[in-house]
Amino acid sequence: MNKENYIGILTSGGDASGMNAAIRAVTRSAIYNGFKVKGIYRGYEGLIAGEVKELTTEDVSNIIQRGGTILKTARSKEFTTEEGRRKAYEVMKKEHIETLIIIGGDGSLTGARTFAEEYEDITCIGLPGTIDNDLWGTDMTIGYDTALNTIVECVDKIRDTATSHERIFFVEVMGRDAGFLAQNSAIASGAEAAIIPEDQTDVDQLETFISRGFRKTKNSSIVIVSESPKDGGAMHYAERVRKEYPQYDVRVSILGHLQRGGSPSAGDRILASRLGEAAIQALLEDQRNIMIGIRNDEIVYVPISEAIKKDKPINKDLIRVLNELSI
Ligand code: F6P
Repeated sequence: MNKENYIGILTSGGDASGMNAAIRAVTRSAIYNGFKVKGIYRGYEGLIAGEVKELTTEDVSNIIQRGGTILKTARSKEFTTEEGRRKAYEVMKKEHIETLIIIGGDGSLTGARTFAEEYEDITCIGLPGTIDNDLWGTDMTIGYDTALNTIVECVDKIRDTATSHERIFFVEVMGRDAGFLAQNSAIASGAEAAIIPEDQTDVDQLETFISRGFRKTKNSSIVIVSESPKDGGAMHYAERVRKEYPQYDVRVSILGHLQRGGSPSAGDRILASRLGEAAIQALLEDQRNIMIGIRNDEIVYVPISEAIKKDKPINKDLIRVLNELSI
């Protein structure tokens, strides 16, 4: 990349703790290596509107510990249109931005892939930033670890009241179509079961849980349920228990957006710092249109098209671990 031009950086889609650490890492590493950086506000929306400002090393001071994103974020409808992307391209030309670094999830990287295909003189580099952990090609996404820890903290508190009242609690967690948050928070909080989209077989997960665990030995239970627009998530299962097993006292707790906020964990800060720095290394190697990922503690370059196309499978061992340990 021509060092006379700028690297543009934006955050897009749902915010995730650690995005600020990534903005800091990209900015500092870029400047260290002789590049200039412009921050783009409100994701692709701001790119289309020309909401752009040069970033200095001082601009990213004191943000590594902050949740959310100092650049703001948005889910842009306009960027899904050709016209919107043309406007974004014109702003990039006007602002002398040659490379776009996008921190976001599946939808944000899908936009980046299309954009890079349409305009071959720009480079897009993606950093996986989503609490859902659902991007193929990377073991972890920025924000996932913090969200997981937040969920566990909440479930520990819910457990106190569940035990005291001898109730079944269905705790609904985010993750969109992926069960990483649900499955791993269930293991970490000692929950009795997790209901996740990846385990949707003919076997009724609720039925299995009731007959396997709750009825036999326990007077209270925590079931972590992945949010699911299809069957209605935790509410749906609670309703079913009320109808099918009226002897149990059931409550629902939907954790919602508190899962997205808060100071990033050390793990997320380190991940974001490594991925952000690696984005600049990739540019120095003339890499284009890739997502920076991490696998087995090594930085990897994943074509954006693969990261968004392939489904990231959940490790089925995790299902067995939870089943065995929750007896
Ligand atoms: O993708 C991150 C995520 O938090 C999902 O887990 C959730 O389904 C969605 O975003 C919620 O989006 P919004 O903040 O727009 O309601």
